[in-house]
Amino acid sequence: SAAVKDGFDSFMDKEIHDQPKAVADTLLGRTDATGALVLDELRIPESTLRSIDKIIVIACGTAAYSGHVAKYAIEHWCRIPVEVELAHEFRYRDPILTARTLVVAISQSGETMDTLMAVRHAREQGASVLAIVNTNGSTIPRESDAVLYTHAGPEVAVASTKAFLAQITACYLLGLYLAQLRGTKFADELREILHELQALPDKIQHVLDGEAAVREVAQAMKDEPSFLFLGRHVGYPVALEGALKLKEIAYIHAEGFAAGELKHGPIALVDEGQPVFVIAPSPRGRDQLHHKVVSNIQEVRARGARTLVIAEEGDEAVAPYADIVFRVPQTPTLLSPLVAVVPLQIFASELAKAKGLDVDQPRNLAKSVTVE
Ligand code: G6P
Repeated sequence: SAAVKDGFDSFMDKEIHDQPKAVADTLLGRTDATGALVLDELRIPESTLRSIDKIIVIACGTAAYSGHVAKYAIEHWCRIPVEVELAHEFRYRDPILTARTLVVAISQSGETMDTLMAVRHAREQGASVLAIVNTNGSTIPRESDAVLYTHAGPEVAVASTKAFLAQITACYLLGLYLAQLRGTKFADELREILHELQALPDKIQHVLDGEAAVREVAQAMKDEPSFLFLGRHVGYPVALEGALKLKEIAYIHAEGFAAGELKHGPIALVDEGQPVFVIAPSPRGRDQLHHKVVSNIQEVRARGARTLVIAEEGDEAVAPYADIVFRVPQTPTLLSPLVAVVPLQIFASELAKAKGLDVDQPRNLAKSVTVE
C-alpha cells in the first residue's frame, strides 16, 4: 500500500532511501566505552576465532556480492585467506572444510534453500558457521553456530538494496573484530577505520540528495539494449551488482567485468555508442588502482563507448574520458562500495520505472527462493 512506501513510487525507492539508517543501525551499539568492538551476538568461542585459518563466504545473488566485498576487507585487515562462493556451487563440489574453517553464510531472508543446504553441509564437515542475516528468527541463523544480524529493517522489493549495504557493513564489523582479536591491526588503526565507517551514513545520504541527476540520465537511456559495468578491486563486485540490478528489474542485458579483464575478451563487445559504467576508485589510494581504471575508461572510450563514471568528488582525472560523471563523497577504497553502488541502484530503479515495469515485483523472480 501507498502508506508503507512513505510517499515513494516503489518499495525499492523507499528502501534505497532507508540506506543511511540501515548502515547506521547495523553499526549501532557495537563498541564499548574504550572504542573497542564488541560483537556479543557472536557466540563462537574466541579461542576458535583465533585459530581459524580460512574463511569461506557462501551466499546467493546480491548477498554473494557483499561477500565478494568482504573478501578484500577481511584479507587486508586480518591476513586470513577468504574464499567467496555461490552456495549452490559450494554445496556440490566437495569443499575442503576443517574445524579451523569459518563459514560465513550471508542472507537477507535467512530462508534461501541453496544457502541453507550449504550451511548444513559445512557443519556436518566440522566447520563453524556464522550467519549474517537480516530476518530475525529465520531458519539459517537457527541452524548456524552464531549470527550477526544486519539491522536493515524489512526489505519488501524483490531487488535487494538496503540489505546489501547492511551486509557489507556487517562484514566490515566482522573483519575489524577478527583483526582486533587476532592482533593484526593496532587499536588506533582499528579505531580510525571504525571512525571512517561511522561517517558512511551521511555520505550515503549525500549521494541520495543528488539522485535527480542520476534519474534524468536513466530516463534518457531507457531504450538502450545493453550495458556494461567495469570495476577493479572492490569496484568489481559493485560492477557486478550494478549489472544485476538492471537485469533483475529493467530486463536489460547487462554484464559486469573486472576492468583488467577487458582486454582479454569483453572489449570486443564495445562499439559505437555502447554504454559502459565504470566504477573509479579513490585517487587518494596509495596503489596504482585509480590510474589503471582511468586507462580502462580511455580504452573503451577510444572504441566508441559512452562512459558513465562513478567517481569521487574532486577526482578530475576521469573527467576528460567520461561522458557522464556521477559523484560520490571521498571514501577510503575498502569502504567505497557503500557509496559507489547507490547511483547504480537509483539508475536501475528509474530506468525500470521509465519502461513502465513493476519495480518491486519483477517477472520470474521471488524475494526469497525456498527451493533448491
Ligand atoms: C533471490 C532474490 C535476490 C537475493 C537472493 C538471495 O534470488 O531475488 O534479490 O539477493 O535471493 O537472497 P537472500 O535472502 O539469501 O539474501
